[in-house]
Amino acid sequence: MTILVRQAELDMGVQEKGMAPEELKKVENGGFVVPGSNAFGNTFRDYNADTARKEIVKDLYRQSHIGHTYDFVKKMREKYGKMDRVEMSIWECCELLNDVVDDSDPDLDEPQIEHLLQTAEAIRKDYPNEDWLHLTALIHDLGKVLLLPSFGELPQWAVVGDTFPLGCAFDDSNVHPEFFKENPDYDNPAYNTKYGVYSEGCGLDNVLMSWGHDDYMYLVAKENKTTLPNAGLFIIRYHSFYALHKAGAYTHLMNEEDRENLKWLKVFNQYDLYSKSKVRIDVEKVKPYYESLIKKYFPEKLKW
Ligand SMILES: [Fe+2]
Ligand SMILES: [Fe+2]
Repeated sequence: MTILVRQAELDMGVQEKGMAPEELKKVENGGFVVPGSNAFGNTFRDYNADTARKEIVKDLYRQSHIGHTYDFVKKMREKYGKMDRVEMSIWECCELLNDVVDDSDPDLDEPQIEHLLQTAEAIRKDYPNEDWLHLTALIHDLGKVLLLPSFGELPQWAVVGDTFPLGCAFDDSNVHPEFFKENPDYDNPAYNTKYGVYSEGCGLDNVLMSWGHDDYMYLVAKENKTTLPNAGLFIIRYHSFYALHKAGAYTHLMNEEDRENLKWLKVFNQYDLYSKSKVRIDVEKVKPYYESLIKKYFPEKLKW
């Protein structure tokens, strides 16, 4: 079977040294065919395409890049890290997400649960033995519940969109970097140098990322003592960190373990991005499989 991956995407995603040959093969010869266009008929992640979403997306990045400061993120982590809002299972959370539409996404106009299952099922087809990766795909966006009233109804800019580190200089490879000039941290000498408050190879675990569904779901998984491997947690926390996994920025902050985990994130990202197409999933049919994975890696009820 032919796989329609543009060479640039292939370079980003799977031509990693250290990736097992059978894994490379799956992406090169497997059943996952990368679609050429998104739900609106445009190429993926085209922030200049003339769609009705363009201005909404741009405005979201303007607000995000001004509103995310080192202090803001610290406060949000403290506040939401308490996990004192709701108790529910992973699957209950998947169903809760059905009402959420992500304004930052130029490619997607369907309920989130479709996206979660499309991503998970596409990965499952190509990596049948990596059950942790299937579950990671299913839960990677659950943090978007932050948009709902019971979670504080945060504005879209504080929940979705590409993420970036705070506490060091903003990299130009971030989408709409021009808006960072209005961020209060931009002129703060403690935060506006290459390393800022960090040091070479300090590890991404120690880096404060802009607040949103990624970091929140990472905290939820950790606080509830998931047994997912570190690569799964890495995918959850950094899946919107496009400056890192697509542009290769901020690598000076990574340690050895981050470099290993990044290989899996790049695999995951192809599915996260390109499974946003018109593939319908029979939810009831696949539910028992995912319920079994949830049972393996999470407690029955989680604190959120
Ligand atoms: Fe996401
Ligand atoms: Fe996603």
